[in-house]
Amino acid sequence: DDPAADPFAVAANAAVQIAEKTGVQRHDIALTLGSGWAKAADLIGETTATIPATEIDGFSKPALEGHTGSLRSILLPNGKRALVIGARTHYYEGHGVRRVVHSVRTAAATGAKIMILTNGAGGIRETWNPGTPVLISDHINLTATSPLEGATFVDLTDLYSRRLRDLARTIDASLDDGVYCQFRGPNYETPAEVQMAKAMGGHIVGMSTALEAIAARQSGMEILGMSLITNLAAGIQKTPLSHEEVIDAGKAAEPVISALLAKIVAEL
Ligand code: 6GU
Repeated sequence: DDPAADPFAVAANAAVQIAEKTGVQRHDIALTLGSGWAKAADLIGETTATIPATEIDGFSKPALEGHTGSLRSILLPNGKRALVIGARTHYYEGHGVRRVVHSVRTAAATGAKIMILTNGAGGIRETWNPGTPVLISDHINLTATSPLEGATFVDLTDLYSRRLRDLARTIDASLDDGVYCQFRGPNYETPAEVQMAKAMGGHIVGMSTALEAIAARQSGMEILGMSLITNLAAGIQKTPLSHEEVIDAGKAAEPVISALLAKIVAEL
């Protein structure tokens, strides 16, 4: 959080610590597993090391149930190494945007070329029942901030890799694309804000991922983004939203979507 510290140097240092603690010098891909996706870590390969995130510089204790608070190094059947980040810092926690994207920058510093970002989110399309996984095809960042500082004019065309979305659809052809709107949270949107997001071209509302994707692009990674629709957004569904409902929907969908994600990872 030191404003004088270079966030990339902090991430590079964290990557050295991960290499020391895991004995793995390079990771090929990284995954941030959000609500409903955590089981994927058990399915993609053999975990060779688990580290409490708080042992690595720049990571904080997870504020949320559904986030394990650990980093895992996993050996995939194809010999590649995956770093699973079970500790996500949300912008609404108030620690600033550098802390939000630290895990992504650390993943890049470990060598990861592919960043998989997952989340639990609200759906704007009525046809998406809770439990539906959606491929993020683009985003609208409504946080009024960016992880980029200074004159870093990064292009965000095709931010969410078409190649990886096409690959995901070879596993499940029924996967829809959707535009993800990141709100600051932690309150859910008002029905009017959901209508605004819809009018802007959004299909999914959430509180993560877009800022992380921007940082991942800045670091040159290829990005796969997936949302689990845990509920319909306010005003679209007729009942009030609750965090409990979100967690329960995540738990119910977890076996199916984790297996789906594991099959996708096996093809990378
Ligand atoms: Cl409806 N909105 C936001 N921002 N995040 C969510 C959600 C809704 N449902 C699950 N996560």
